Amino acid sequence: MKSDSKPDVCVVGLGYIGLPTAAVIARAGCKVLGLDVSQNVVDTINRGEIHIEEVDLDGLVQGVVSRGLLSAATEIAPADVFVIAVPTPFDKDHAPDISYVLAAGRSVAAVLKAGDVVILESTSPVGTTDQLRDLIAELRPDLKIPGKTRDIPDVSIAYCPERVLPGRILEELTNNDRSIGGITPRCARKALAFYKRFVRGECVTTDARSAEMTKLVENAYRDVNIAFANELSMVADRMGLDVWEVIRLANRHPRVNILTPGPGVGGHCIAVDPWFIVHGAPEETPLIRTARGVNDHKMSHVIAKAEALVEANPEAKVACLGLAFKANIDDFRESPARFVTSRLARKFGSRIHVVEPYAAQLPIEFTDTGAVQIDIDDALETCEILIVLVDHDVFRVVPLAERAEKLVYDTRGIWPDQPRVVREEEARLALTA
Ligand SMILES: NC(=O)c1ccc[n+]([C@@H]2O[C@H](COP(=O)([O-])OP(=O)(O)OC[C@H]3O[C@@H](n4cnc5c(N)ncnc54)[C@H](O)[C@@H]3O)[C@@H](O)[C@H]2O)c1
Repeated sequence: MKSDSKPDVCVVGLGYIGLPTAAVIARAGCKVLGLDVSQNVVDTINRGEIHIEEVDLDGLVQGVVSRGLLSAATEIAPADVFVIAVPTPFDKDHAPDISYVLAAGRSVAAVLKAGDVVILESTSPVGTTDQLRDLIAELRPDLKIPGKTRDIPDVSIAYCPERVLPGRILEELTNNDRSIGGITPRCARKALAFYKRFVRGECVTTDARSAEMTKLVENAYRDVNIAFANELSMVADRMGLDVWEVIRLANRHPRVNILTPGPGVGGHCIAVDPWFIVHGAPEETPLIRTARGVNDHKMSHVIAKAEALVEANPEAKVACLGLAFKANIDDFRESPARFVTSRLARKFGSRIHVVEPYAAQLPIEFTDTGAVQIDIDDALETCEILIVLVDHDVFRVVPLAERAEKLVYDTRGIWPDQPRVVREEEARLALTA
């Protein structure tokens, strides 16, 4: 690394995590090369534009690209610090797929030099950073690799997970605390010095395996607690109770904080990461596995309940509100709202009207279903049934006067003032479904 001085940084993978990270590092004054396998992503960023939706990211990227601090390429180049933020999906048996991490590791190994720091940020099963280290050791026998030498290693390798909330990524990238796990304590210190350049939150060092597990545990914790809320919502349907009322009252207990039910759990984190723990310790994880099952089952429950409501009112037009996996974002990956709506579209065709302000057009699976996309004003004017699947602010603010006469199935509890009589009707329909 240059002695003064700000390191040159290479961020591998320019998606929802990599691009904001690259931009924030560039804003701190480091020269950043973003590497991506997608030519379209690279060209878009080099024009100073962005290919994802994230609050304030467009202006930041435009600024750092025009100042020459951020550029993108499909070919890697030497740098002082490498940050890897590529996908870590699972396969059809829920086994983690770290092939993207290893492919990124191969790219990095090709240009690695003494003094460099390699940091994995992708959410990863425990042991992945060790595997990345082993790969680099195999490809670069000329370098002393941490954990493989008794001498001071030539390079440092660490794991530092991301815990940002889409929609608040730029703020949280800077202000959240970070867990930084080194292959060795020295690796952790090197990575810590790098994060201190742009993170205001507290940076806590640990070993790589603990840092990997910490990220998985955070999301499994959320999944298990959401599963409890979702299970309660199905119990409440069975008993004809208003789950929102029950949770509101229970949460008055000073040590109870039940989360909010929904149509299931989506996204590429909470619905995915718990499986990495289950895969690593299958015998010891009945609770985590069951929570996954409960949250997936909630989606089928919502479909059954929505179908019953639509079938019981054959003349009614139906508006499904939202496709995203959570509020106020344009991310539709693993989204229960999208899944529920596409099932309804396949069954009820042109009766289904989809309202999703964050989608320019309907996803591919809606082709030939007859379902159409409309805006919220048209939905309120023309549809008699409203099925709330995402708690976008634009839905939340619809006043009672504009929906009091509608048949509402609110899976997110955004309209607590909706007339109770409709809720009871919904419950009756669910029970007879
Ligand atoms: N999106 C989130 O909110 C979030 C939050 C916390 C952690 N994570 C984790 O961060 C990681 C990245 O997630 P994401 O949402 O940014 O993914 P993404 O799909 O949005 O972006 C990944 C990018 O990596 C590129 N890529 C794939 N293989 C590559 C390679 N070998 N070399 C260079 N580029 C490559 C892809 O083209 C893509 O542009 C995942 O492990 C995810 O679980 C995501």
